[in-house]
Amino acid sequence: MSISRRSFLKAGALASGSLFLGPRLSEAKSFGNSILKKQVSPAILGGAKAHPGTWPKWPLWKDESWDRKVVSVLRSGIWSRADKTSQFEREWAGMLGAKRCLTTVNGTNALFVALNQAGIGIGDEVIVPPYTFVATVQAVLLNGAVPVFADVDRQTFQMDPEQVRKKITSRTKAIIPVHILGMPVDMDRIMRIAAEHDLVVIEDACQAHLAEYGGVKVGTIGKAGCFSFQNSKNIPIGEGGAIVSDDEEFMDRCYSFHNLGLPYGSQAGSLAGAFMVGTKVRFSEYQAAIGLVQLEEAARTTALRWENGQYLTGKLDGLEGIETVRLYPKTSKAVFHLYPMRFISDRFAGMPRELFVAAMKAEGVPCSTGYSPLQVQPFIKSAFESKLYQRVYDSQEIDYDAFLEANKCPESDALCNEEAVWIAQSMLLNGHEDMDDIAEAAGKIRENADKIVRKFKSGEIKI
Ligand SMILES: Cc1ncc(COP(=O)(O)O)c(C=O)c1O
Repeated sequence: MSISRRSFLKAGALASGSLFLGPRLSEAKSFGNSILKKQVSPAILGGAKAHPGTWPKWPLWKDESWDRKVVSVLRSGIWSRADKTSQFEREWAGMLGAKRCLTTVNGTNALFVALNQAGIGIGDEVIVPPYTFVATVQAVLLNGAVPVFADVDRQTFQMDPEQVRKKITSRTKAIIPVHILGMPVDMDRIMRIAAEHDLVVIEDACQAHLAEYGGVKVGTIGKAGCFSFQNSKNIPIGEGGAIVSDDEEFMDRCYSFHNLGLPYGSQAGSLAGAFMVGTKVRFSEYQAAIGLVQLEEAARTTALRWENGQYLTGKLDGLEGIETVRLYPKTSKAVFHLYPMRFISDRFAGMPRELFVAAMKAEGVPCSTGYSPLQVQPFIKSAFESKLYQRVYDSQEIDYDAFLEANKCPESDALCNEEAVWIAQSMLLNGHEDMDDIAEAAGKIRENADKIVRKFKSGEIKI
């Protein structure tokens, strides 16, 4: 166990100011400071659902005032990048406390552009976590660089700084800390390592809108931060992305690169025509129109997720077999794009995780098992076999078997293959009663784990 683990806080403990873990269910038939509401049979065995009602619909759409704002942009006929996009960029930068924001078509391209203009390219190694969405790594490969995986800490689900340190070589150029599931990475340690080795830090904050570390918004700590506004995200547009940074010259270059290499800002006026290689990944006015109305609700929904997430952790603490997520001490706000827990099958009578998820669903509490191991997915092999990589790298640098051997990530694999259970962010948007229902569902399943497993093995329960 690394030293840092002692300094983790249970999310619920942040609210209460204590590290109280709660009684074990096996000892006290209670958890999270409460007795199970109703000692009834679990829904998968024919009992009543813990949550008979519905969950908030996502994405939120407030009322006709939002219709009017979006339709006025549609009726204007100005759909390519113009004033609404600039307004969205000003507002998003303002909400984060960043000097500049540049929107892009999506988060994947925000990462692609930011890495490209941070000078990441052929011959470089970029340290990434394995427990992330595929886009983080695709953005590295699209720039011709080699991803190097630093395993996560299972208790926080986040990139482990100690593992990052171990992966640094003379070729390492950048680190991408991913604030996965909306919880901040241990940024002080990442920034310290980056400073010691002169590495660029590009934050992948695609799941962490308005999350805070030491009172500072994530995405504003490294050289640049990247966001996604894809449909499921805490600020949804359907598709959309943004880069934020305080580095004016870098942002001018990002602008040019995202706009066909045409001059912008410090380059404007001095040159005619395109002056650099560029792509075209501009935001549209209707994306901005939807984004602007969504920003109106962002502070309210973010506060709700943080509050409900801490409350839910408090309820689940002490339920044997469910390990609640730990947050780094400087986390001043987690935004739980996905609320995670670790399911320990041994403590649930050997129940397969898929059966737990099915039993939760039967209780009216949908959840999922999350990511599968990323570092072994074939897209990396396909990049190594591409014409570009074959021409520019020595064979030993892109030896795929050696890559697999050097990039083993057992902690992330355990989360992917055995332990992780996610609850969608939109389920954290009502009151405490909904959180009580989630905890109640898990508690009922735990109490009846033997019976459920028996009936599953005998074929009486099918999933
Ligand atoms: C961690 C992470 N990085 C990058 C992305 C890419 O964003 P987008 O889907 O907007 O391209 C996502 C979004 O799904 C994400 O979750």
